Amino acid sequence: MAVAAADSSPPLLAVEDLRVSFRTHDGVVRAVRGVSFDLAKGKTLAIVGESGSGKSVSTQAIVGLVRGAEVSGRATFAGKDLLTMNAEELRRIRGARIGMIFQDSLSSLHPYYRIGWQIVEMIRAHDGSVSRAEGRDRAVDLLRRVGIPHAERRVDDYPHQFSGGMRQRALIAMAMALGPELLIADEPTTALDVTVQAQVLQVMADLQREFGTAIILITHDLGVVAEVADEVVVMYAGTVMERSGRRELFYRFHHPYTEGLLGSLPSEQDVRRRLRPIPGSPPSLIRLPKGCPFHPRCPYAFERCRTDVPPLRPVYGDEAHLSACWLPTDPAGREGARADAGVTAEARGSR
Ligand SMILES: Nc1ncnc2c1ncn2[C@@H]1O[C@H](COP(=O)(O)OP(=O)(O)O)[C@@H](O)[C@H]1O
Ligand code: SF4
Ligand SMILES: [Mg+2]
Repeated sequence: MAVAAADSSPPLLAVEDLRVSFRTHDGVVRAVRGVSFDLAKGKTLAIVGESGSGKSVSTQAIVGLVRGAEVSGRATFAGKDLLTMNAEELRRIRGARIGMIFQDSLSSLHPYYRIGWQIVEMIRAHDGSVSRAEGRDRAVDLLRRVGIPHAERRVDDYPHQFSGGMRQRALIAMAMALGPELLIADEPTTALDVTVQAQVLQVMADLQREFGTAIILITHDLGVVAEVADEVVVMYAGTVMERSGRRELFYRFHHPYTEGLLGSLPSEQDVRRRLRPIPGSPPSLIRLPKGCPFHPRCPYAFERCRTDVPPLRPVYGDEAHLSACWLPTDPAGREGARADAGVTAEARGSR
């Protein structure tokens, strides 16, 4: 259904061949190397991958927040390219039409100011017609919606008076204050314990439904993806390894890297099973290996993988399911490769 909707109307956000590189003393870091995806209004796209795969840099580049980088490609938001927009226009869109929750200081609460005050200032920075009193009412309402108890009182708290989960909810309230069309949430629940994580995801889902907001959710946690995503982009070493709907990713994955990530997911059926991280580590983004960037860690790697870069192409006869891997693209061929490589159901955790 997501695909049909995306086909009939232009996507809210279309990212095409996004590239970001940094010049450093050691050489050029190719952090993002040709990333493309679409996101339809009201849908959730998860970007998943190990640390360092370029998830944060990609999304920060889209909203013009990477400094000292060379950025190319296109990021068309509601018909206009964010990458060529002037700084003032982009500043107006950020916060108002695109809400953001980033892991680091780019979007955190200021420790010296009351939480309500920060929300009010955010609203007023984009809409000068809102009075302080109106802004405060709106802040209380937002805090209530994200589940802050006694919001009318807690609105005057300082950030340190909030728990980690409450601070994260306050950040969501702030990001959603102006009813954005798109919310970019970079690891919004990573620092939280599992129960609070679930609550925060629920708050995001509720606000999404209410405002019709599209969400880009960055996470390294496939458990989170399973909860909320419509579409999934799997990134590795700055590129897209696999892209598909959520169901396809979990039940009909093609790429061995996705398979590896799934194998490192704790299984609900078998709580005794240990987390099984993918052996080895991601390559240097300054000196990438030839061929497939995953080949040094891939249990399926064969000759061609070490020389030729696999293009992102449709698999299993599904135009909406893409994988950058040289393995056969038909289900039987892919399954046969697993047998040949000796990757048993046991080894990949019976998924
Ligand atoms: N300012 C910078 N200068 C050089 N390299 C950077 C800079 N910012 C990020 N990188 C590199 O870009 C790569 C991708 O980073 P990032 O997008 O933060 O990964 P992820 O969010 O997937 O963990 C990493 O290897 C990181 O070290
Ligand atoms: S192209 Fe080769 S090395 Fe890369 S993921 Fe596919 S099988 Fe593994
Ligand atoms: Mg990151």
